[in-house]
Amino acid sequence: MDRKTISVALDGPGGAGKSTVARAIAKKYGFTYVDTGAIYRTVGLFVRRADADPHSPEAVEPLLPGINIEIEYGEDGQRMLLNGEDVTGLIRSPEISMYASAVSALPAVRAFLLDMQRSLAARKDVVMDGRDIGTVVLPDAQVKIFLTASIDERARRRYDELKAKGEAQSLEEVRADMLRRDKNDTERAVAPLKQAQDAVLVDTTQLGFDEAVDAVSKIIREKTGR
Ligand code: DC
Repeated sequence: MDRKTISVALDGPGGAGKSTVARAIAKKYGFTYVDTGAIYRTVGLFVRRADADPHSPEAVEPLLPGINIEIEYGEDGQRMLLNGEDVTGLIRSPEISMYASAVSALPAVRAFLLDMQRSLAARKDVVMDGRDIGTVVLPDAQVKIFLTASIDERARRRYDELKAKGEAQSLEEVRADMLRRDKNDTERAVAPLKQAQDAVLVDTTQLGFDEAVDAVSKIIREKTGR
């Protein structure tokens, strides 16, 4: 791992506030925000379009050579290109969330995406959010944070987010989806969601946005002097 760049690994379950906090931290410190969930979602979209079973290694593995993913960074943040097509807006639906969670349990998919994530962190200072950044992708990251919140709070935040975008899921459906995804992500055999031994736990259940950003900033200061 190239020690000249700074890496902040931000892991945790969905709805804990990772992307909101990571965006603010990236802006504050001049780091690049890498949303690794978007990369798994892009694979999920491809598998959905191919009408393949996202749980089946036999169905998904032969598709991987046909997938070219590029990440672009523009004014409005990270954009995902799937074989040249901008799919940034298409990967956020509840259906693609489930596809992403399913394909992310396949070892071949994780291996396929590992180099892409590591080479981004080797080139630039990053705040990278995901599930296994501190444990697998960037085990040498200078700063590791595990961001979490209660299931009710996470479901409420995700529900508000989806509602603002006009998605018609009820709070109960959002909560049930989230529990299913938590279970997939924490119980899978390869790179499951778990707190790295050297990660600092930040529980955002009772924290507002500014307080969460302050808590993370304090940890960055302690670890890097920035
Ligand atoms: O962070 P997100 O909700 O956009 O991620 C979508 C899915 O991708 C999530 O359910 C699990 C998977 N994922 C992963 O396995 N490893 C990562 N580093 C990021 C996401």
